[in-house]
Amino acid sequence: MTREKPKNLWLSRWGFILAATGSAVGLGNIWKFPYITGEYGGGAFVLMYLACILAIGIPVMMTEIALGRRGRGSPIDAIARVVRENNSNPLWKSVGLMAMLAGFMILCFYVVVAGWAFAYTWKMASGALAAPSVDALAKVFETHNASPWQLGGWSVLVALLTLWIVGKGVQAGVEKAFRWMMPGLALMLIVLVGYAWTSGSFSQGFAFLFTFDASKITGEALLAALGHAFFTLSLASGAILTYGSYIPDGQSIARTTFIVAIADTCVALLAGLAIFPVIFANGMDPSAGPGLIFMSLPLAFQQMPFGTVFGVLFFAMVSVAALTSAISMIEALVAYLNEKHGISRVKAAAGSGALLLVISLLAMLSFNLGAEWKLFGFTLFDGLDYLTSRWMMPLGGICMVILAGYCLRSEIMRDELGLAPAGYALWLFMVRYVSPVLILMVFLHALGWLGFDPIAQWYWIAGAIGALALLGELLAPRVRHELALR
Ligand code: PFF
Repeated sequence: MTREKPKNLWLSRWGFILAATGSAVGLGNIWKFPYITGEYGGGAFVLMYLACILAIGIPVMMTEIALGRRGRGSPIDAIARVVRENNSNPLWKSVGLMAMLAGFMILCFYVVVAGWAFAYTWKMASGALAAPSVDALAKVFETHNASPWQLGGWSVLVALLTLWIVGKGVQAGVEKAFRWMMPGLALMLIVLVGYAWTSGSFSQGFAFLFTFDASKITGEALLAALGHAFFTLSLASGAILTYGSYIPDGQSIARTTFIVAIADTCVALLAGLAIFPVIFANGMDPSAGPGLIFMSLPLAFQQMPFGTVFGVLFFAMVSVAALTSAISMIEALVAYLNEKHGISRVKAAAGSGALLLVISLLAMLSFNLGAEWKLFGFTLFDGLDYLTSRWMMPLGGICMVILAGYCLRSEIMRDELGLAPAGYALWLFMVRYVSPVLILMVFLHALGWLGFDPIAQWYWIAGAIGALALLGELLAPRVRHELALR
């Protein structure tokens, strides 16, 4: 079978790396990572998060990029083409559909948070954040959220900017913007870490992030760490797969994945190092929740020389980082409508944008008028976050590794990944045995299945990986053989 010819490719070898890092590095690193680390008690959570990135995030990302490049298209089409090449069941493409849906659902609440970053850039510049204490800053945050007009206005602005860029096509815009954006953000974070160093509580912040308290390792925290690993690397939500479909043949997927994952992890850790010392220095509670960075960092900026300038630059960088992530969430849907149904990118962006505006405005109301509108105890904002991070992304991830590890003929992935034999064997081991077992165990815990706790009953996990490895090695050659006969 002849392979699909690529229609769009990144302009340079760095194109994918920049865009995928742009997608991965965003509010997940600077806003979500610190606040959930705070909620789950620090170092133990960080350790579980790093383990999830290594054992699940990196293998899943390699798989997703390989599927995208092999199938050359939006998630649904790319997976459909790959399974056709393999003579497998076409229903696998529903994994692509779920990913695309997850990307869109994330965007619906992400624009609200990105709106905070945009609003704080403006507030920083206009002096509205010159409040004397964390409590006063908490008030500013509350007042901002209590006003549907303010919150909604900023969310709409972010949504429109995202749609405008996606309508124009990501390659040119994003690739160029990234060349200066990433180094700028890194620099700002280093300045902030430098300030945190002088805050008097650096060692306390450092210890909070990196000392490990075994009692804080719980099944619930592991579930959050897994969900966050997917979220922060933009996995199973269409973004990485679609961007992967624009990579030229011959570029190393493993190298690329490592660069993106390392950059993403460094940004999250730097953000933690910048934020927690400030929090402790000001007697703030690290488990203050989603407002954490908005209540703590403006105080740090007020106290440092040229603080306003740094503050404006910092929130501006965060806004751009959020925008480049937001773009990637809807790229899959726009690419799908464009490739499959021949709708122009502009019209596709406008059509999906109308729905985005409606849902995101409803999500925004979760902070004010609709704070009491709850389903199963979740507001729309929380529900979208919970459903995507805890369920849809891990489910999409497990389906993709099962497809790649068990169902596809080995030469497809071997060709696409282009790894040395040892590297390929390691990847295969991870996607066949380690990633699916870990994701499954975490799901079982979430379902409350037999009171299963993946931490206390770790030996089940080890046993299941071992048993699956044995069984898989015995069965896989037979399955492959049958496929080859077809
Ligand atoms: N990785 C992004 C962040 O950390 O902010 C969030 C994200 C982007 C999730 C793109 C999903 C996605 F498709």
